[in-house]
Amino acid sequence: MKGKNLKKGRDIPPPKGKLGILISGIGGAVSTTFIAGVELVRRGLAEPVGSLTQLGTIRLGKRFEHRSPKIKDFVPLADLNDLVFGGWDIYEANCFEAALYARVLNREHLDPVRDFLSEIRPMKAVFDRRFVKNLDGTYIKSGSGLRGKVNELKADIAEFKARNSLDRCVMIWCGSTEVHLKPLEIHRSVESLQKAIDENDPSIPPSMLYALAALESGVPFINGAPNLTLDVPAMVDLADSMGVPVTGKDFKTGQTLMKTILAPGLKSRMLGLEGWYSTNILGNRDGLVLDDPESFKTKEESKLSVLEYLLQPHLYPVLYKNYYHKVTINYYPPRGDNKEGWDAIDIFGWLGYPMQIKVDFLCRDSILAAPLVLDLVLFMDLAQRVGMSGIQEWLSFYFKNPMVKENLYPEHDLSIQSMKLKNTLRYLMGEEQITHFGLDYYMEESS
Ligand SMILES: NC(=O)c1ccc[n+]([C@@H]2O[C@H](COP(=O)([O-])OP(=O)(O)OC[C@H]3O[C@@H](n4cnc5c(N)ncnc54)[C@H](O)[C@@H]3O)[C@@H](O)[C@H]2O)c1
Repeated sequence: MKGKNLKKGRDIPPPKGKLGILISGIGGAVSTTFIAGVELVRRGLAEPVGSLTQLGTIRLGKRFEHRSPKIKDFVPLADLNDLVFGGWDIYEANCFEAALYARVLNREHLDPVRDFLSEIRPMKAVFDRRFVKNLDGTYIKSGSGLRGKVNELKADIAEFKARNSLDRCVMIWCGSTEVHLKPLEIHRSVESLQKAIDENDPSIPPSMLYALAALESGVPFINGAPNLTLDVPAMVDLADSMGVPVTGKDFKTGQTLMKTILAPGLKSRMLGLEGWYSTNILGNRDGLVLDDPESFKTKEESKLSVLEYLLQPHLYPVLYKNYYHKVTINYYPPRGDNKEGWDAIDIFGWLGYPMQIKVDFLCRDSILAAPLVLDLVLFMDLAQRVGMSGIQEWLSFYFKNPMVKENLYPEHDLSIQSMKLKNTLRYLMGEEQITHFGLDYYMEESS
């Protein structure tokens, strides 16, 4: 985030006009659950449960002031009625058909918004099966060369904006998890990345082309998957130079959400960890994609890194030096989007006596992810209006593997992430930041 040009409080341009939400993977489970949900909320047919921007409050000032407005009344966020949806998918189905296929929402929730969803049709995707091996969609752009594809995506963005008379856009990747990729020399600078695109470098995945098209169009980009996409110096530098915010990666929803709630609690009590065994069964299209070992490796890396950062074994060798951490995902079609995540956690206490914790989270992946998509698009639009460019670390609250500047480590503790997010909002609106400093009481008494 660049500090020098930040607008604060009254200087933040209001969210006038319509905000376009461009989604890569618009026919997926998360995307259709998000879009249908927003429309149901707009029509007064459902509540936006899980959304901090819609339901959350923020405490301001000293505790005796009793000021806790809703976040959406405190910061100038776009109104839900001003959101317009569009995007790309490799399957031609409209969003109603795609939502039926996803089997997340039942007819009770889909039928009332059937007309609305049926009218949202995907644009042809940029796709390359080498990067998502288990899908074989055919609704794909035929344009030649990587540069040609970036230009086609940019033309789509411009056309979507003009057709819907939009004031601003935000792009979010809700597409599939791509195979595991490591940063290469071509990702070191904007120039080397652009050159590689001109030369049709075969190591560049579609997600990077979407990100490039967004950034070059001045559109903030959010990465909801664990894909490398933005997490290379070239993309971050480009975002900075274009004055565009970026954030990612991998929505923090089921098992990892639980991990980042539980592990900090164990650590604050100085309880040791011997092992954490996590396994999942998942039967949706995401599960099918992750059944390919190369896509799973991308996800595995994202899921595994969490404990290491949270527990800091280098600072607490007695407690965390040699713990065993294992994560698996098994594709099991009968469960569809209703994932079951088991955790068997072996901990130890005073004098090393062992104890066990078992978690069996019968969750719904897309139900947990949809409100995160809503919050992220609204906060990223705010960040753009404020003038915050580059990596938005204050949004790490939403990610399994939050992006950070080179040489920094990510914060994973959900409560610290929440504090970071709210303090950023307080700062932007010219309010005092809340530190939970222990002597507050005495200071309140004397102030
Ligand atoms: N649901 C969760 O809780 C959760 C949590 C963290 C991350 N994610 C990630 O979010 C993404 C979406 O999850 P989902 O459950 O909706 O999966 P999904 O398989 O239902 O949806 C992904 C969609 O992306 C489309 N797609 C693939 N490649 C594309 C491309 N190049 N361009 C355009 N569209 C493309 C697919 O056709 C599909 O419709 C996945 O990467 C998943 O790993 C989901």
